[in-house]
Amino acid sequence: SENIFILGIESSCDDTAASVIHNGQILSNEVASQKIHEAYGGVVPELASRAHQQNIVPVVHQALKKAGIEKSQLAAVAFTRGPGLMGSLLVGTSFAKSLAYGLDIPLIDVNHMQAHILAHFIDEPGFKKPPFPFLALTISGGHTQIVRVDHYFEMTVIGETIDDAVGEAFDKSGKILGLGYPAGPEIDKRAKLGNPKAFKFTKPKVDGLNFSFSGLKTAILYFIQKETKSNPNFIEENLNDICASIQYTIIRILIDKLKLASKETGIRHIAIGGGVSANSGIRNALKQGESKFGWTTYIPKFEFTTDNAAMIAIVGYLKYLEGNFSKQSITATARLKL
Ligand code: KG4
Ligand code: ZN
Repeated sequence: SENIFILGIESSCDDTAASVIHNGQILSNEVASQKIHEAYGGVVPELASRAHQQNIVPVVHQALKKAGIEKSQLAAVAFTRGPGLMGSLLVGTSFAKSLAYGLDIPLIDVNHMQAHILAHFIDEPGFKKPPFPFLALTISGGHTQIVRVDHYFEMTVIGETIDDAVGEAFDKSGKILGLGYPAGPEIDKRAKLGNPKAFKFTKPKVDGLNFSFSGLKTAILYFIQKETKSNPNFIEENLNDICASIQYTIIRILIDKLKLASKETGIRHIAIGGGVSANSGIRNALKQGESKFGWTTYIPKFEFTTDNAAMIAIVGYLKYLEGNFSKQSITATARLKL
């Protein structure tokens, strides 16, 4: 059989990442995370693109080195075309084009959201691949979608957020509580120590399979303002319970919509992806869905679930097998649809 090495490059937001895939198997998965944004409580686009500019060559170099190959062995270069921040996408796109041009090998553009879903097709011992059709719940700082996946490149968004992404719901709630950015991981940690039913936040009413999270943020803000008026130490004294209650509400919103999606489509194979799928409460709730609703759930290895280049490389490989290449005139597209 053939030895196909593909380089994947991801630069859609604040992580500069590169990965080498050999057939379906990841040989290296490098990422340079940009710490600089923490001080600002969110990603600053201008700073992100500058950091990508600085990081991209060392990260690609490291990915090739860890994979133990020379760039002359590459069969193709795959890169994130969108969606994402334009200035960030431009760095990866321009770099990938130049490298493919210089090496005279195919260039392959990748949709970042498709990649979060297709990360499930990386060959990884102990991880099963979902059979078609399956439902994918992609939850990150930028996106919240339920996607019906009929084949690798046959995907239909059947539900999505009409305002904030679920990661933003975690991060903005955390900001109200005075937690650092991103707040998701800390809320998760504290939620384990708190009572999820201590405080009740109402679930938004959104038709069909769509989500809304901006109301929750406002509800939390008013709740905290009211409570701290009578007790200035309210947050400190109840932080774990508050975190557990917020997380519980978010999980209920997600699971209720997934239940509905599964019922409407008759599909019980459910895969999750995106940074928020690291959340332990969400993972538990999904696992419980196996016995409660007859689901089979698929949760990728952690490093393939947050923004990474391995997921770009696997899509590159799948497209390579189909001979689905890009023209050199292709452009980064900030609002690329699935
Ligand atoms: O996919 P990702 O790394 O980047 C994009 O947004 O594309 O996701 C980052 C998001 C942040 O909002 C972060 O707070 C959230 O994922 N996150 C978590 C957890 N780990 C990361 N949210 C809840 N619980 C976690 N354990
Ligand atoms: Zn992402």
